[in-house]
Amino acid sequence: MPNRSWEVGFHLRSPRNWLNDPNGLCQFRGRYYVFYQYDHDWPTVDQKAWGLFSSPDLVHWRYEGVPIQPSIPEDRHGVFSGSAFVERDAGPSGEDVLRLYYTGNVVDPVPGHSPKDFDYVYAGREQNTITCVATPDPDGPPGALRLGPKQVLLRNADYPAYCSCHVRDPKVWEQDGRRRMLLGGRHEDTRGLCLLYDSEDGISWTFSHAIESEYPFGFVWECPNVVSLDGREYLAISPQGLPRLRDRWFNRWTPGYFELPEGQRLIDTDTIDERGFVQWDFGHDFYAPQTFVDDAGRTILVGWMGTFDDHYTSVPDGLAWWHCTTVPRLLSRRPDGRILQVPVPELEGLRGDGRALSGETIVAGRMADIVLTGIEGEGALTLDGSFQVFYEHGRLGVRYLDEASSAGRTSRSIPLDGLDDLRVLVDGSVVEIFANGGAETFASRWFCPEAADLRVACTLSATGTVYPMADTMAQMYATAEAPVLDLPGWNETITR
Ligand code: FRU
Repeated sequence: MPNRSWEVGFHLRSPRNWLNDPNGLCQFRGRYYVFYQYDHDWPTVDQKAWGLFSSPDLVHWRYEGVPIQPSIPEDRHGVFSGSAFVERDAGPSGEDVLRLYYTGNVVDPVPGHSPKDFDYVYAGREQNTITCVATPDPDGPPGALRLGPKQVLLRNADYPAYCSCHVRDPKVWEQDGRRRMLLGGRHEDTRGLCLLYDSEDGISWTFSHAIESEYPFGFVWECPNVVSLDGREYLAISPQGLPRLRDRWFNRWTPGYFELPEGQRLIDTDTIDERGFVQWDFGHDFYAPQTFVDDAGRTILVGWMGTFDDHYTSVPDGLAWWHCTTVPRLLSRRPDGRILQVPVPELEGLRGDGRALSGETIVAGRMADIVLTGIEGEGALTLDGSFQVFYEHGRLGVRYLDEASSAGRTSRSIPLDGLDDLRVLVDGSVVEIFANGGAETFASRWFCPEAADLRVACTLSATGTVYPMADTMAQMYATAEAPVLDLPGWNETITR
């Protein structure tokens, strides 16, 4: 039996099965949308589709099924990651139109060849850039979308000849009155890079240039993003192949960002100084974040709270779902260029009555928002005597006090010159930590012992408040229909 204490109440997970990257983040006609990479039969079958949630307020979500599924030859082995672009006033009656961009993955051994003849990196794979339009479903509830026909925009032959078969994850935005598209990829020399395209209409794209690091930095760059804060631009990527170091890059793959020099724009950039790479998050479960700008002009990040680190037992004991997303995180720029990440203020609406944190504080239920300010010196915050957030010997980190709750994860920490404040979101088996105004964050799963209440103990000298959090998801997960994939008969699946 899965442990009921692992259930999440304010994080998005697939009602069933596998979730990875958030996709197509946007606010469209006032409503928020989070698509996500969905796999109906992981780990036996690897065939991604896009699942969907929608929300009026970033807190109350509706599950909208799996609207984009493999259905054409160009995406038959997976609807991979991508982004959303809201075309302002482009509809027949002047309404906004939602255009989605994604990568159609094809793993296609040539007839007569055995799959073993291909490495799927330099041969045997197609990654097509595809678009479709989504419109509100007039017969559905608010949030339901109808997908228009798919249109293939770019194929491997259209990417520069020096690219391997890995070119994917389109991010589209508008700048200087033209549409811009970033693709992540792998150079044939086995190093990560981005490709930049531009377009008048979002359909016909012209290659502009590649964006590369001065020295090789990982073997592939996935899920690229452009972020703009206070007039400064950033390139964000999810690179694979960085070495594991003592103070950073702990996970197998580590996403982060580069701030561009003052006055420099990504569209005019072809070389990145890889030494400026800043890791988004230091937790065990964080990859492939995406950002978007909402109607209020806020830049919001949602990350995948998961990894492909095989040694983590991410679904202990038959849990029916794998992984979740982070809460939406509001981004801002610190004067030195670091990006601060804090939970969007809407989440505070889920708080119950706050209680002062003293000695051991018991929170009814398994969901809490713990806020510590004016921290002096060192110490630790301990959850159920099982999971610890610590600041010791000038290092901020997390550790598991009992092996079972780690499911393979081990402690980790980063050097930090003074801890002033700490915010810890606990949501069943999910912990998100925000330190020093969101300058350092840790997203980690914690497969806690089963218990009705959460025990919070603190040895840090600080003013602490513990808020119980409302569960806005249980009802949705309980009533969501099992995703059914409508795969065409010819659509053979890829077995791992
Ligand atoms: C990142 C990623 C993307 C790809 C997707 C497939 O986690 O590998 O590059 O589009 O996952 O699910």
